[in-house]
Amino acid sequence: MKTRITEMLNIEHPIIQGGMHYVGFAELAAAVSNAGGLGIITGLTQKTPEDLAKEIAKARDLTDKPIGVNLSFLPSFKAPPYQEYIDAIIEGEITVVETAGRNPQEYLPRMQEKGIKIIHKCTSVRHSLKAEAIGCDAVSVDGFECGGHPGEDDIPNMILLPRAADELKIPFVASGGMADARSLVAALAMGAEGMNMGTRFIATQEAPIHQKVKEAIVAASELDTRLVMRGLRNTERVLNNAGVERLMEKERELGSSLKIDDIMDEVMGVYPKVMLEGDMDAGAWSCGMVAGLIHDIPTCKDLIDSIMEEAEGLIRARLEGMLAA
Ligand SMILES: Cc1cc2nc3c(=O)[nH]c(=O)nc-3n(C[C@H](O)[C@H](O)[C@H](O)COP(=O)(O)O)c2cc1C
Repeated sequence: MKTRITEMLNIEHPIIQGGMHYVGFAELAAAVSNAGGLGIITGLTQKTPEDLAKEIAKARDLTDKPIGVNLSFLPSFKAPPYQEYIDAIIEGEITVVETAGRNPQEYLPRMQEKGIKIIHKCTSVRHSLKAEAIGCDAVSVDGFECGGHPGEDDIPNMILLPRAADELKIPFVASGGMADARSLVAALAMGAEGMNMGTRFIATQEAPIHQKVKEAIVAASELDTRLVMRGLRNTERVLNNAGVERLMEKERELGSSLKIDDIMDEVMGVYPKVMLEGDMDAGAWSCGMVAGLIHDIPTCKDLIDSIMEEAEGLIRARLEGMLAA
């Protein structure tokens, strides 16, 4: 399939694996890229820029296809040395960077003058337009269904994607709630040039994380995510568990006086415990409503091949068939 995104990123299929903390390691990124999509290494999961350089080198040993790096500018206790992470990205000859969180403008010129394409992840049309105005090459439009940080507007993709299509000139991919061929064809129908998946790629053979996390996603339904940290304007969609129940109890008790310090036990240092050790009740970790559509743990190649094959069937048989009738 050829779209503005496959052309821009030099990939075979319009499918991107979004950056994911403690999931987006070299093994997963390389597997997605080898399957013809775009795999993304999560920059800040690597504790130092030197570690990121090593992770990029590891991915390079596993694939000669394009790979991306995610750089998230979310609230953190101590700002990471972003320019040094960008050094590692440039030296690693990365061709695509997924930015997220806040406005990445100050970091763009250094990357774009090296030919790096910037996809900024946005949860609203106004942020997408801002990304276009500051010169981002594409946006990933992340609906309210998404795992991770859906923003504070709560607009689901059935509305957000056509709104983005009406307003944007740069290409965009649909993100949030995407799982299969139906998601891809629907996203294309609504004006997107491809799709970005997070949660779906966690439940794959190559995601180098604890088996219990993959099984928890397969076991979960669309009813099993919760929104936390709303009161802090840092809303995150997470899979419910005992740690999340504890966190929500604190939110109920403390109401508007809740501070981040009150919920440290449930949000700090949770990812390595969950993803590496399989401690499923450790606290809040991102997961999308799309868990309800995930019933297996395929290889990335089987997943992407089946999406592309079924998408072709949907377009040629189901949609064209309806016209013929
Ligand atoms: C476990 C997990 C960790 C994530 N970590 C990040 C991150 O570090 N940076 C980022 O920009 N997005 C992060 N995301 C968001 C994804 O890149 C993607 O936008 C989102 O998962 C799309 O929604 P979906 O899960 O419904 O596919 C994370 C998502 C998940 C599920």
